[in-house]
Amino acid sequence: MNKRIVVVAGDGIGPDVCNEAIKVMERTAGKFGHRFTFEKHLFGGCSIDAYGVPLTDETLDACKRSDSVLLGAVGGPKWDGVEPSRRPEKGLLALRKGLGLFCNLRPAHIYPELKAASPLKDSIIADGLDIMIVRELTGGIYFGKRGSEGDYAFDTMEYHDGEIKRIVRKGFEIAMARGKRLCSVDKANVLATSRKWRGIVEETGKEFPEVQVSHLYVDNASMQLVRNPSQFDVIVTCNMFGDILSDEASQITGSIGMLPSASLGSGSLGMYEPIHGSAPDIAGKDIANPLATILSGAMMLRYSFGMAQEADAIEKAVATVLEKGYRTPDIMETGMQQVGTKEMGDLVAQEV
Ligand code: IPM
Ligand code: MG
Repeated sequence: MNKRIVVVAGDGIGPDVCNEAIKVMERTAGKFGHRFTFEKHLFGGCSIDAYGVPLTDETLDACKRSDSVLLGAVGGPKWDGVEPSRRPEKGLLALRKGLGLFCNLRPAHIYPELKAASPLKDSIIADGLDIMIVRELTGGIYFGKRGSEGDYAFDTMEYHDGEIKRIVRKGFEIAMARGKRLCSVDKANVLATSRKWRGIVEETGKEFPEVQVSHLYVDNASMQLVRNPSQFDVIVTCNMFGDILSDEASQITGSIGMLPSASLGSGSLGMYEPIHGSAPDIAGKDIANPLATILSGAMMLRYSFGMAQEADAIEKAVATVLEKGYRTPDIMETGMQQVGTKEMGDLVAQEV
């Protein structure tokens, strides 16, 4: 298959880690007889520097025309003073919205080799950790009416039935493909949007009788995540709760440099990015961990291109490289072999 991938590497370590993902995807294409072309565009802070805005129409159009988008990371202290409507983060929200990517998949998975990096006690993670957070990405309080005047400011959490139905359905479909357990997280004891959400989960559940459904309030869910994380299989939740819970889940794995993500819409086009930030302090130093971005590339092959075997090959290569003891500085332990960003990319590519 021929696939056109737009790369918006962004700022800080974004380019460092994207280059390694490209390397691994090219090797995978070669091995399985595909052809991937990569087209790079400015996005985020570097786009503000060049054009005054974080997302130009050209970049958005290029993304829309692509088969999928690989994103590095955006932002950094350099653009902290930029007015809110032009901040790099605004560009990210506009890109998600512009591409219609309402479904954000954030897996949190502990590699047996990296268990020691988890801040949780061995007894709590003895059963491992393999959670998929399904986060609504183009609605809720992120996109509701907001404003600020004098001594008053407001944000609004808004959802229409349709927006909830499509993400909840995704949650069920993903649960069916995994452990068949779906936990819906809301704040239905307080929020009207959550009560609507809960009703739609119950209603949709009738179509998926095999899936065991539970509901948790978000405060309880955040507690359960550290008390007994292995109780979770798939979590489905709104934009803001998903933002918060996915950061919490990432820390349980001990290594934010390991976690990929996928943002999907109703078609095959998706956007794939590591969940970590731009880490400007280590940019260009060949020390950033490229594995989250490499694994995001694997998710692209799986979810947008239907290349399950190819995605497996990349994921297996990452596991093998870790088994062999290679570590970037963020996941380094005594007795292991420390390598830089590029060498890590080379090792995974070779293993593929
Ligand atoms: C994330 C980030 C973004 C979000 C920010 C940068 C706008 O925290 O992708 O989780 O809140 O969605
Ligand atoms: Mg976040």
